[in-house]
Amino acid sequence: MICLIIEMGAPRPSILSLLLSLVLLYFTSANSDAPNTNTFLQCLSLNSHSSLPISSLIFTPTNSSYPSVLQSYIRNLRFNSSTTPKPSFIITPTHISHIQASIICSKIHGLQIRIRSGGHDYDGLSYTSDQPFAILDMFRLRSIVFDSENATVWIDSGATLGQLYYQIAKQSKFHGFPAGVCPTVGVGGHFSGGGYGNLMRKYGLSVDNVVDAIMVDASGNVLDRETMGEDLFWAIRGGGGASFGVIVSWKINLVIVPKRVSVFRLQMTLEQGVTDIVYKWQLVANEIDDELFIRVVVLPSINEGQMTIKAKFVALFLGNAQRLFDLVNEKFPELGLQREECLEMSWVESVLFWANYANGTSADVLLDRMPQSEKFLKKKSDYVQIPISKDDLEGIWKKMMELEKPAMTFNPYGGRMSEILESETPFPHRAGNVFKIQYSVTWKEGGDEAAHTNLNRIRKLYDYMTPYVSNSPRASYLNYRDVDLGVNQMGSASYSEARIWGNKYFKSNFDRLVYVKSVVDPEDFFTYEQSIPSVAAWRNSMLEE
Ligand SMILES: Cc1cc2nc3c(=O)[nH]c(=O)nc-3n(C[C@H](O)[C@H](O)[C@H](O)COP(=O)(O)OP(=O)(O)OC[C@H]3O[C@@H](n4cnc5c(N)ncnc54)[C@H](O)[C@@H]3O)c2cc1C
Ligand SMILES: *[C@@H]1O[C@H](CO)[C@@H](O)[C@H](O)[C@H]1NC(C)=O
Ligand SMILES: *[C@@H]1O[C@H](CO)[C@@H](O)[C@H](O)[C@H]1NC(C)=O
Ligand SMILES: *[C@@H]1O[C@H](CO)[C@@H](O)[C@H](O)[C@H]1NC(C)=O
Ligand SMILES: *[C@@H]1O[C@H](CO)[C@@H](O)[C@H](O)[C@H]1NC(C)=O
Repeated sequence: MICLIIEMGAPRPSILSLLLSLVLLYFTSANSDAPNTNTFLQCLSLNSHSSLPISSLIFTPTNSSYPSVLQSYIRNLRFNSSTTPKPSFIITPTHISHIQASIICSKIHGLQIRIRSGGHDYDGLSYTSDQPFAILDMFRLRSIVFDSENATVWIDSGATLGQLYYQIAKQSKFHGFPAGVCPTVGVGGHFSGGGYGNLMRKYGLSVDNVVDAIMVDASGNVLDRETMGEDLFWAIRGGGGASFGVIVSWKINLVIVPKRVSVFRLQMTLEQGVTDIVYKWQLVANEIDDELFIRVVVLPSINEGQMTIKAKFVALFLGNAQRLFDLVNEKFPELGLQREECLEMSWVESVLFWANYANGTSADVLLDRMPQSEKFLKKKSDYVQIPISKDDLEGIWKKMMELEKPAMTFNPYGGRMSEILESETPFPHRAGNVFKIQYSVTWKEGGDEAAHTNLNRIRKLYDYMTPYVSNSPRASYLNYRDVDLGVNQMGSASYSEARIWGNKYFKSNFDRLVYVKSVVDPEDFFTYEQSIPSVAAWRNSMLEE
């Protein structure tokens, strides 16, 4: 007992009292084998109540369409290999009772559940596990219901961002929603992990605009905001849904956008002054009007046989092209923006522009659920709180050229992001951040060697960046999932181990997440490599040993 408490570090009183007062009734050890298919199917049928029989919605490795269903939402080719652990069952619910049945029966049969909506998890945690598991694949639940009078929408987790943007544009020329840039991203993972895009400086994150949700908890109960209570409703807006339950549907407030917005895209190389311009960008991009979002992507690139650094600036402005031109030339003349480079369009056209579709592409492509290309990839993230000096930028470029590959995307903070308190949602990266970095490496060849080389590259750049980014903790964005930050030991997610990665994603919100988890899922049914630990389940597993 004593060593357990010491290992806890210095928990908040609420965690400590919870630890001491919880009566530990239910401890079920996971079966080492997957359940018998027929018994499991029978259990599911008995527990689901919809006219559509659940048997037509379940895939086992013997079903001929199992591989294609599994692969449909694998968005990182690293986890599309023959050695990637495969689920014993894929359940594709069309009705909320199918989700309830999946939870109840998986619990009875000692099967782990992985919840997948759009499958964009960078480390594949929504569809892989080293324990016997089932995927609860939400892709069939994708309805979007508008309430135009109140400018709100109920949207299912299996919908994609592209589908949301398409439907908004069909209903209104004056509305938008702050969420990610890539149209194929799933609502389920995106909203429950935060969700940001180019409206962030004006309107905050997706979760800042979520007003209700429907979910199924570890006991199979269907809850809405009122019945789940404010603690749980807080936790699922940025704490990662999959630690707490299955979120079926979200109610969101749409935001106002002008009928015409403006964009630009510029590109330059080292020789054209990248260092000075990026340096200045750090001083203005988070301070400038909230209507303007300028992203920078820097990447090593070969130009006439010489390695150089390319910088791409992409902007969205909630206003007309002339105002954009005037604003940038007043506050950021170093960019050298020309009037004809400022393009005016509708908001939905700007979504297509940012997703790199050619001018004139129909908005229908937003309904495609498959991305334009598939890659092997690894991503990481950081927060910059003090602008990096020109000398240090030069050093970083040199390192990037030496490593040849990793790209960095700089996303400016400030605006609405600085007004929202760190504790308002589990997502803590608010005031005090100048910009966020996304590190990215992608490659085309399968196999361990290519993976090893490329993982090394991105890890080396991340190490090199240590002096320039946040520390204590070195913060990260949950939706840029990164298992390098640490993972739970399966079956005994410990508070002190989880706190290492938990502090990076959630800072001081981590303890409240542990508290909520310990109350709503004490047995830790919803468990995975980076799930929030339940104090009760962890203590139990220690007592077993
Ligand atoms: C190409 C690409 C572009 C991206 N662009 C952006 C961007 O612009 N902005 C941004 O913020 N992020 C971006 N991301 C990251 C993205 O937000 C996260 O990967 C997000 O979690 C993906 O959601 P998903 O439903 O597609 O993923 P999934 O892999 O299905 O799920 C991710 C996590 O959420 C859990 N989860 C999924 N559905 C549910 C549910 N219904 N209930 C409970 N838990 C659930 C999963 O179990 C897993 O832990 C991008 C990712 C990719 C691959
Ligand atoms: C998959 O196979 C099982 C039997 O193994 C069957 O009950 C089920 O209906 C099949 N699923 C589909 C979608 O055909
Ligand atoms: C995933 O792997 C399968 C089986 O090897 C292969 O047929 C499929 O093309 C792969 N998917 C992609 C997008 O490469
Ligand atoms: C708008 O919201 C109000 C208050 O919640 C509700 O009574 C009304 O029915 C809503 N309008 C529509 C069209 O649903
Ligand atoms: C798109 O193409 C049309 C037709 O060629 C042109 O009028 C319009 O200005 C273009 N828009 C952008 C944003 O380039």
